[in-house]
Amino acid sequence: MKLTLTARPLETQAKEAWIIFVQNKKPLLSGHTELTKLLNSQIKKTGFSGDYAKTLVFPTFLSAVASAKADGKLKADNIVLAGLGDRKHFRMEYLERAASAAVRAGKKAGIKHFATGTAAEIGKVSESAFVRAVARGAAWGSYSFDTFKTDSKKRGGELSITFAGPCVNASACRKALTEAELESQALLATADLANLPGNEATPQKIANWAQKMAKENGLTYSVLNKAELKNKKCNAILAVAAGSAQDAKIITLKYKGTNPKAKPVVLVGKTITFDSGGLSLKTGKHMEWMQYDKSGGMAVLAAMQMVAHLKPATPVIGMLAVAENMPSGSAARPGDIVKAHNGKTIEILNTDAEGRLVLADALSLAKLHKPAAIVDLATLTGAVLSALGYTAAAVVGNDHKFNQKLIQAGDAAGERLWELPLWPENMDDMKGTFVDLRNISKSSTAGTINGAAFLANFVPEEIPWAHLDIAGTAYEEHSKAWTDAGATLFGARTLIEWIKGME
Ligand code: BES
Ligand code: ZN
Ligand code: ZN
Repeated sequence: MKLTLTARPLETQAKEAWIIFVQNKKPLLSGHTELTKLLNSQIKKTGFSGDYAKTLVFPTFLSAVASAKADGKLKADNIVLAGLGDRKHFRMEYLERAASAAVRAGKKAGIKHFATGTAAEIGKVSESAFVRAVARGAAWGSYSFDTFKTDSKKRGGELSITFAGPCVNASACRKALTEAELESQALLATADLANLPGNEATPQKIANWAQKMAKENGLTYSVLNKAELKNKKCNAILAVAAGSAQDAKIITLKYKGTNPKAKPVVLVGKTITFDSGGLSLKTGKHMEWMQYDKSGGMAVLAAMQMVAHLKPATPVIGMLAVAENMPSGSAARPGDIVKAHNGKTIEILNTDAEGRLVLADALSLAKLHKPAAIVDLATLTGAVLSALGYTAAAVVGNDHKFNQKLIQAGDAAGERLWELPLWPENMDDMKGTFVDLRNISKSSTAGTINGAAFLANFVPEEIPWAHLDIAGTAYEEHSKAWTDAGATLFGARTLIEWIKGME
């Protein structure tokens, strides 16, 4: 998706389509009184709901705006109306999704070149925030995972979107657009990896990918393979990979920061390339989509690529705890006891609670970087779907204020986070019978909090730490107006927003 910004207003843009956002059923078009009137009648005529991410594509010469088209006042061949829903319920993700949905709907109608305005007029959204969200949404809307479609080459042809009309603060708009472009490149490139199935995205392949990405983007790359993990007593992650033909790895990517004296932040991603459950084998339905159990790590990779280009002051370290969870004669058994990197002993009572095991070692290694903060992202529990559905990720941590910071970053970035508590009672539920910790709780309630309570044992209390459970938000099982099915890279947008805001 080619993104351009021009000071020349929308009415000068002879494009295949203009994208017009609609809020409270009103087209958002400042200063275009006549066109607004005509579009209003088109909305009435068609009964367009204007609900979020709903779209309506129509050719201008065959609609209520035909007179404007005929007079040459309307230079677009088509209009794509893109709903934002009601002003009262507005959130940034609705704008990003509407832009994405508009491009997808346009693309289906054969449209490749779009223009839209720069003036926001939406809730309290600033011009540059508007440009950023629309640009990122449009780029995402242009994406589909078609690596394995044998006819994909035929589709070809790059899409474009022009942001037309002077910005009040032109340099802020330009910066937002450049950043959105770099962020989108990272998201789209990583999506191609994140969507790969278990037979393709093996731990080794992820390591190769990360190494290449690091090299191309000026990050340092290092990896702990099986032997190094053994040396460092990372026995929890080794136990998860024990049943697999693929060895476990902990990958580390480093960005120095423009203020190298600042303490780094560490991002840790659960990267299970396939979660069969191990000997606590999942049943058919539950095993579908488990190639997306690497999503935490994929969000970290995308965030690291963004960081490499946007060059924030804060040093950032990304860690991926990579393993495949398989049953076999060498697999960990329920009841097995292992000692993690920090010396804590764990009873593996359920081999399907493997995410917390790989993260235990990675979090314990993370603190060696003396970080200012640690954030982990993981498709950790099915329970988060019961708690929050597909709408929001849970954030659970050891510092309420830090959780709030991430929630705010998520609000600005169009990713919803919801805080769940972490109480001493939850910590108690994870204490082992014969050893320090059990990997599943004594109670069968509050699964998402239990997972976090387990992880809390691997992070020193004085380091602000937040765990994002993204099991409900990391991938879409069905295509939506604004996205194909597959990886969403949920979390990457929040991380970069938070890191940029630290300056
Ligand atoms: N990868 C799963 C969690 C998951 C479930 C991700 C649904 C995406 C969609 C995780 O490893 C798992 O199996 N968790 C168990 C934990 C339980 C055994 C304590 C779960 O949620 O059932
Ligand atoms: Zn599992
Ligand atoms: Zn898992």
